[in-house]
Amino acid sequence: MKAARAKTFFQCQECAAQSPKWVGQCPGCQAWNTLQEQRGERAPTHRFESLAERSRVVPLEQVEAQSVERFASGSDELDRVLGGGFVHGGVLLIGGDPGIGKSTLLLQTAAHVARSRPTLYISGEESLAQIALRATRLALSGSPVALMAEIALERIQTEIRDRKPELVVIDSIQTLFSEELSAAPGSVSQVRECAAQLTRVAKQTGTALVLIGHVTKEGTLAGPRVLEHMVDTVLYFEGDTHSQHRLIRSIKNRFGAVNELGIFAMTERGLKAVSNPSALFLSQHPRPVPGSSVLVSLEGSRPLLVEIQALVDASSGAHPRRLAVGLDAQRLALLLAVLHRHAGVSCHAQDVFLNAVGGARISEPAVDLACVFSIVSSLKNKPLGKGIATFGEIGLAGEIRPSPRGQERIREAVKLGYTHLILPRANAPRTPPEGVHLRPIERLDQALQALWEATASIEKA
Ligand code: TYD
Ligand code: MG
Repeated sequence: MKAARAKTFFQCQECAAQSPKWVGQCPGCQAWNTLQEQRGERAPTHRFESLAERSRVVPLEQVEAQSVERFASGSDELDRVLGGGFVHGGVLLIGGDPGIGKSTLLLQTAAHVARSRPTLYISGEESLAQIALRATRLALSGSPVALMAEIALERIQTEIRDRKPELVVIDSIQTLFSEELSAAPGSVSQVRECAAQLTRVAKQTGTALVLIGHVTKEGTLAGPRVLEHMVDTVLYFEGDTHSQHRLIRSIKNRFGAVNELGIFAMTERGLKAVSNPSALFLSQHPRPVPGSSVLVSLEGSRPLLVEIQALVDASSGAHPRRLAVGLDAQRLALLLAVLHRHAGVSCHAQDVFLNAVGGARISEPAVDLACVFSIVSSLKNKPLGKGIATFGEIGLAGEIRPSPRGQERIREAVKLGYTHLILPRANAPRTPPEGVHLRPIERLDQALQALWEATASIEKA
């Protein structure tokens, strides 16, 4: 009987659905070409259902039943995204590209927490000597943090149960394997099983658990998007590895607000909090250049000024290119259509490239006006006036929609010395703050008119 079942099966690397045969499209999540052959017994499906149920229901009930107890991570920026600090029994997944600084941040954090609470840092990626080398570099080598180089889940579980640390860091979840499964480490069933087992231990022992996860090229946590359901908090580490700045964003948080942003700089001695981040994503042009505008963005609870750059140039091919870095490419196509239809500006024969400066990633629709301003400025090869900032969403009918928390955006722009603000009419305050010209607008053509008027008045002054 056993021998008959011990064969191979196929499992989706995205959603962990299983199939006895290979198929092109996953029966679970409808993704294409995600099924991979796995050796071993096919897990009975009800087992996964019960796992999913537990990770979904129990932690949420706990949150309602008891007030959460937190302890500080030692970094205000990290505490901000966590919603105030680590939670006992809370499971945190932190994802990011290789080399972005995940191990650095968590080693710094573990070293800090270890001063007042038992802390265990488990690495499946690096040897103890390598970790010690990094700790020396970070000037943390005197820290009482307990280290362990281990990839066997069962041994890690025993260690957590015996030592009862208050904080455990697993670097990374993709390197672990459970002896009970025959699949290779890093495969979706291993990652899923290890995360589920560790979550159980964390809940039982009241340990705060941090799982580090790698991100695939597609930008999702490799394979186990399923992990996002299991854990309490999901953070993404982002930023351009060529620049110093690193952002940590909360995508999901059962213990706090989402879309909070923590801002760090990678220095010679590890990650440091950035004290005045709002001007971080502006490049310093000695004089205004075409194709550049400034967005007043509001990510989570903090306003940020971000330069949006566009390059619009004659296309050589039959299909002009549209490329967006740090912004949504679909949104770019949509904006170009609206720009043509409602403002008569055509980019049909041009390639359009759009970039958010400094590795910023903007997902809020308030970026629309800034994108359009940069595109028009590049197309006309005319710089916008120095001191103009903007925010606002553009609808398909060419209307300008208000953005949330307009007052805070205006305040930040004024604080950083912007003198002309082009903004949705619904966001304009009755009494404008001193020292700034507000140009409230309702439609796209008005917006462009206001833009050139503001530029002309700045040039005259
Ligand atoms: P790391 O934490 O190993 O990244 P991850 O775990 O996300 O893969 O960070 C690696 C990069 O950070 C590496 O390119 C070197 C750089 N770094 C510094 O610039 N300063 C430092 O103090 C440390 C420890 C690393
Ligand atoms: Mg690492």
